[in-house]
Amino acid sequence: MNSIPIIAIDGTSSSGKGTIAYKLAEYLGLNYLNSGALFRLAGHLAVVSGIDIHDHSDENMNKIVDLLLKENLDLEFIGKKVIHNGVDIWPILSSEDAGVVANTISFYPPLRDAINDFQRKRVSAPGLVDEGRDVGTTVFPNANVKIYLDASVEARAKRRLVDEQKRGSGKTYEILCAELAKRDEVDKAHKVGALKVADDALYIDTSDLTIEQVLEKCINHCKEKGIVKS
Ligand code: DC
Repeated sequence: MNSIPIIAIDGTSSSGKGTIAYKLAEYLGLNYLNSGALFRLAGHLAVVSGIDIHDHSDENMNKIVDLLLKENLDLEFIGKKVIHNGVDIWPILSSEDAGVVANTISFYPPLRDAINDFQRKRVSAPGLVDEGRDVGTTVFPNANVKIYLDASVEARAKRRLVDEQKRGSGKTYEILCAELAKRDEVDKAHKVGALKVADDALYIDTSDLTIEQVLEKCINHCKEKGIVKS
């Protein structure tokens, strides 16, 4: 176990990870990190630089890794904001389209290595709540607490639909179901850093639970593991 507490929250897209990880960090008084935002940022940088995210040759994919590293990853996570070079880019990165782009490039091991390094360097007192796909299995296998959040594709699509309608993206419930199912498939098939439940993780199906109910389960699990409000 670590002297600085680490709480790893993994799970499927739109399972509630983001909201729960952020609220848990706030409740416990710990720092919060959203590793998906790093994959989303890499994808966003690639797209705006005109790099073809469907060309998965090493030569092309390394351009994306270089782009991300050149940024020196000047990123701050303040509440739900992701401040990149002084500007909150979460409104851009949080769209379903940005998630699909991130998903397309996230298989690439050198990109995963760069993002994993970034996460490990972010560990500092009083501790970290880090959310993603492989935080508890690959990035921090010794995390003090591991939680895996899941929900049916239908429940997740309904949640995403609310966000996408606010954006006016025109995505329907059916399109979102198909995109989420595809993302799960890709996330679970990675050769490294695949989405899977760690042996020692608490598994929670959030389909029929409110945010408050999920949060309560997470807080109780943290207590059982000796992590309490600081
Ligand atoms: O958690 P999210 O929806 O913001 O993640 C977007 C994509 O990034 C997801 O489909 C796969 C990838 N990702 C990953 O491979 N590993 C992580 N730790 C976090 C995200």
